[in-house]
Amino acid sequence: MTQIWVPTAEVAAALDGLPGAEVEVVVPDGAPLPPSAGQVEFYVAPFFPTQPATAAMREMPRLAVVQTLTAGVDRLLAELPEGVTLCNARGVHDASTAEWVVAAMLAALRDFPLFAREQAAQRWSYHYTDCLAGKTVLIVGYGSIGAAVERRLAGFEVDMLRVARTARDGVADVSGLPRLLPIADVVVLLAPVTPDTIGLADAAFLGWMKDGALLVNAARGVLLVTDALVAELRQGRLRAALDVTEPEPLPAGHPLWDLPNVFITPHEAASTPVSGTRMLAHVRDQAARFLAGEPLRNVITGSY
Ligand SMILES: NC(=O)c1ccc[n+]([C@@H]2O[C@H](COP(=O)([O-])OP(=O)(O)OC[C@H]3O[C@@H](n4cnc5c(N)ncnc54)[C@H](OP(=O)(O)O)[C@@H]3O)[C@@H](O)[C@H]2O)c1
Repeated sequence: MTQIWVPTAEVAAALDGLPGAEVEVVVPDGAPLPPSAGQVEFYVAPFFPTQPATAAMREMPRLAVVQTLTAGVDRLLAELPEGVTLCNARGVHDASTAEWVVAAMLAALRDFPLFAREQAAQRWSYHYTDCLAGKTVLIVGYGSIGAAVERRLAGFEVDMLRVARTARDGVADVSGLPRLLPIADVVVLLAPVTPDTIGLADAAFLGWMKDGALLVNAARGVLLVTDALVAELRQGRLRAALDVTEPEPLPAGHPLWDLPNVFITPHEAASTPVSGTRMLAHVRDQAARFLAGEPLRNVITGSY
């Protein structure tokens, strides 16, 4: 039998009936691990991997594969034991996350957060708003989710600009940012956390953005230099919509909470029923492949 650790009963149920699998629900929390740690070959890490959940990998001498429930693998990659294969859930969260990005753009440009506050105060605050039609949207990190965003924006009469690690037809590399940022009305961060992307959106990056532009971060908080964003938001020069922050959870009293031109959601872009269903199907497919000795999908090589 092949020992598989999963973080929830739902994931265990998704693996029901896989021949040769011994599935156990374990969420490492710092307490001594169950004795089966010595047998684990396939480890499905928790959705938000805590330090004990990543450290547990070192106590699994037979560990062959770590499967994440997320597209981002930054926390696990940093502590992956030598020789262990890491697979992510690239593609699983495209629909949910791309939908959040489009919703965030529309909400910010059409002043929905402000109207929601006015509704709570029972005030009829009629005013003109901005709109998405006619805008130029720049995606920084044009991968699986970035392409899903572009597909969803097809009906919104926008011009698209794209940046990735490697330049290709219609996609610039980061050396294009000083040219592209000043012409974008909306800038969407969707790159993974790597040594090259930590702090990518720094004071210079934000300074290149045009007055009144909207920054959308659906990637990870560390891509953005928060103090630099707070300075721009305080001046009222930029607007922002953030699903991710550094740190998370954003603590009470943090300057971002009180600025009027930013709205924040608690890292929930991929927390939807569709993501849940696709995540379970992906884990089952990966475990079945592993048990059958077939090639795994979404294997992480290098920094991503
Ligand atoms: N908010 C949420 O709940 C949520 C949900 C899902 C994912 N995410 C985040 O979104 C990230 C992207 O997910 P994905 O599935 O779209 O990943 P992906 O398909 O791997 O795409 C990532 C893109 O980023 C580009 N990139 C890498 N390094 C870069 C750099 N230094 N500068 C500019 N672009 C760079 C890659 O370029 P190449 O194509 O040239 O390699 C690729 O196009 C994840 O890593 C995760 O952190 C967040």
